[in-house]
Order: sequence, then C-alpha cells, then structure tokens
Amino acid sequence: MKPVTEATAVKAPVLPDAQTVLEVKHWTDRLFSFKVTRPQSLRFRSGEFVMIGLLGDNGKPLLRAYSIASPSWDEELEFYSIKVQDGPLTSKLQHIQPGDQIILRPKPVGTLVHDALLPGKRLWFFATGTGFAPFASLLREPQTYEDYDEVIITHTCREVAELEYGRQLIESIRKDELLAELIGEGFADKIRYYPTTTREQSPKMGRITDLLKDGTVFKDLGIEGGIKPETDRAMVCGSLAFNHDIKAILEDFGLREGANSDPKEFVIEKAFVG
Ligand code: A2P
Repeated sequence: MKPVTEATAVKAPVLPDAQTVLEVKHWTDRLFSFKVTRPQSLRFRSGEFVMIGLLGDNGKPLLRAYSIASPSWDEELEFYSIKVQDGPLTSKLQHIQPGDQIILRPKPVGTLVHDALLPGKRLWFFATGTGFAPFASLLREPQTYEDYDEVIITHTCREVAELEYGRQLIESIRKDELLAELIGEGFADKIRYYPTTTREQSPKMGRITDLLKDGTVFKDLGIEGGIKPETDRAMVCGSLAFNHDIKAILEDFGLREGANSDPKEFVIEKAFVG
C-alpha cells in the first residue's frame, strides 16, 4: 500500500466507483438514511436499486443491493438503511460521515417500476421496515401521479419511531412547492398514507396483511369492494415472509405478478440488507 500523503489523500480516487457522502441522518438505533453524490452518467427509473458498499477488511468491495430512495430527477442519491450490529456491511456503513466515500456501482435494476404494471386507476405501495425506500423515490416521481388517480402507501413497522422517515417524507412532499410545480398543483391530494405498528401502541395497530384480510384497510379508507384487478395495481417491498404473504393476498384478489418484460397488476421486491 502506498503511504498516504496529504496530496494523495485529497486527489486519489480512494475507492473504485467512489461517491461522496453528503448527509447522514440517524432515525433510530436500527435505522439511518444518507445522501451521496450522483455519478453524472447514472440514469435510473424511480424504484430501482443499485449495489453500494465499502471496501472490506480484505481490501475487496463489500457490496449490497440498496433501493434508491430519491427520485430519478434528483441531483443527489438518497438511501435508507437498517443497522445490523454484526452485519458485514451495515456495521461499518452506519458510521459514515459527510465527506467520506462509498462505492456505488452505476448499474440500476429492479422490478418496482411503472413499466412493469399495466395501466390502472389506484396504485398501492405496500412496505415494511426499510422496504419504504423505493416508494420514497416513486412518491416523488411525476409519472406516479400522471398514471394514477390515487396512491395509497401502507407502511408497517414494529415501533412508532420506525415510521418517522416515511412520515416526514410524506409531510415534506405535501408541502413541496418544487414538486407541485413539476407534477402539478394538488398532486399531493392523491396520496393516502396508512402507517401501522405491530409492537408499540399507535393509532393503527396490526400487520397490513391482517388488516387487508379482515377488510379493516378498506373500511378505514372508504374503499368499496376491496382491491380489484380492473382498477388496482400494487408494488410490494418488505421482508421475504411479508412478500410471500402479501403476494397470496393480492392473488386472492385476482391480481397477477408482473415483470419489466411482462407487465401485469402487481410487482414485488425484497427489501435488501438484513
Ligand atoms: P411483527 O412485529 O408482527 O413481526 P422487521 O422489522 O422484522 O423487518 O418487521 C417489520 C414489520 O413487518 C413488523 O411490523 C412486522 O410485524 C411486519 N411483518 C413481518 N413479517 C410479516 C408478514 N409475514 N406479514 C406481515 N407483516 C409482517
């Protein structure tokens, strides 16, 4: 290894595909979000993910898939992450500070994109935990509101504090004048936010899967007849178990799983990094 002189410390590209950390925010002892510079050449569709990471102790890149939480038009890239104390990547990543560098492979992919859904009227985003991230992007994407009359975002977390990133983001979207200019006045009226907790008291308790099965969601939101394949589309991002359970529920409602090459009524992606 070369000795790090002042000159090399500033100029040398310390990491391959390096991007600079701009901002870090810790939400709970298990959750944080951060922003990094966007590579000029990076084009992505809102809802996609990229591989990001750090150099491992062996000097090799240690990378994981992360949904981009910022919209495709944004100058910066935002990510929302869990902190796993013994996790190979997140045990280190949680300590990044503005000015640090991370590795970002500029090859976006993913199924939570508008192209993977057939046209519809009402779009459901179903998230648990950090599965909120791709929807943080899609909620700021003009096409979401051009394509749908109504956008329902459900977010289930264990505790109230874990909802905070999503709650604040939706609040800021509702007040954002730039977005209103970009998307059209009144766009935010289409957003319906349905947060639930499972292990701490909050206004709406329970797993979203149970609340869908017993009809509580539809009663609360005033939706007659539940989810219908003619009008409703859904994107899902959560743990494997959650994805499995909600897939069965959506299929019971008559929706079929789609893909980029074969758009249908719903799409699913695992929330990455455990
Ligand atoms: P629960 O507390 O009942 O397990 P986690 O932090 O483990 O990723 O979970 C995030 C949220 O997702 C929790 O509120 C958890 O509820 C919920 N959850 C986990 N598995 C499922 C599932 N199979 N169906 C619905 N919700 C789930």
